[in-house]
Amino acid sequence: MNYHDVSFERSFGVSSQLTPSTLPEVAFAGRSNVGKSSLLNKLFNRKGLAKVSSTPGKTATINFFCTAEARFVDLPGYGYARVSKTEHERWAELIEGYFNQDRRFALVCSLIDIRHPASKLDENMVSFLQQAGLPFVIVLTKGDKLSRQKCAAAREALRKQLGLGPDVAMPITSSLKVTGIDELRRLIERAVAD
Ligand code: GTP
Ligand code: MG
Repeated sequence: MNYHDVSFERSFGVSSQLTPSTLPEVAFAGRSNVGKSSLLNKLFNRKGLAKVSSTPGKTATINFFCTAEARFVDLPGYGYARVSKTEHERWAELIEGYFNQDRRFALVCSLIDIRHPASKLDENMVSFLQQAGLPFVIVLTKGDKLSRQKCAAAREALRKQLGLGPDVAMPITSSLKVTGIDELRRLIERAVAD
C-alpha cells in the first residue's frame, strides 16, 4: 500500500448518497473524540487530511479518502450526548446506512480509548461486527496516556469485557507519540490484500 498518494474523495451527509463501493474499504468507527480523524492523519502522515477537534462531534459526515488500492472511510463518532435528537438520528442513519450497504468491507477498525472500559455503544458495535461476519480489529487509542504496563493490562481487560479471543488484533496506538501506527498499517495491508 502506498500511503503517500492519498487524497480526499468526498463527504456524505446521508447514506443514500454514498457512491458505490469500487475499492476494498477500510472503515474507522468509534465514539466521538476517540481519535479516528487523528489516526487517519497519522496513517498517511498528512496533517489536516481529516479534521481533528477537541470538541466531540467534529466529523458529522462520512468522509472518503482514497489511495490506488483502497478507500478509507472516516465515520462520524457515536455516543456524544450533547447533540440534538435529530442530529443523533442523522448520525445513526449514516453509520447504519453505511454498514447496511453491499460494500467491499476489507477491514473495520473499531476504535476504543485505552483509558476506559468499552461503553455500551462500543459493545454494540463489536457485537454487530461479529454477527455480520465483518473483518475487524480493535484499535486502542491514546496509548500515550498510560504507562506501558497499564496499557497491557487495559488491553487484556478490554479483551475480556468484549469477549474476544486472542485471534482478534488489538493494536495499542498513539497519534500523539506516533506509536502502533506501523502495526496498524500492516494489519490494513494484510486485510486489503485478502
Ligand atoms: P469525532 O470526529 O468527533 O468523532 O472525533 P474523532 O474520533 O475523529 O477524534 P479526533 O481525531 O478529532 O480527536 C479528538 C481529540 O483527541 C483531539 O483533541 C485530539 O488531539 C485528541 N487525540 C487524538 N488522538 C490522540 C492520541 O493518540 N493521544 C492523545 N493524547 N490525544 C489524542
Ligand atoms: Mg473525526
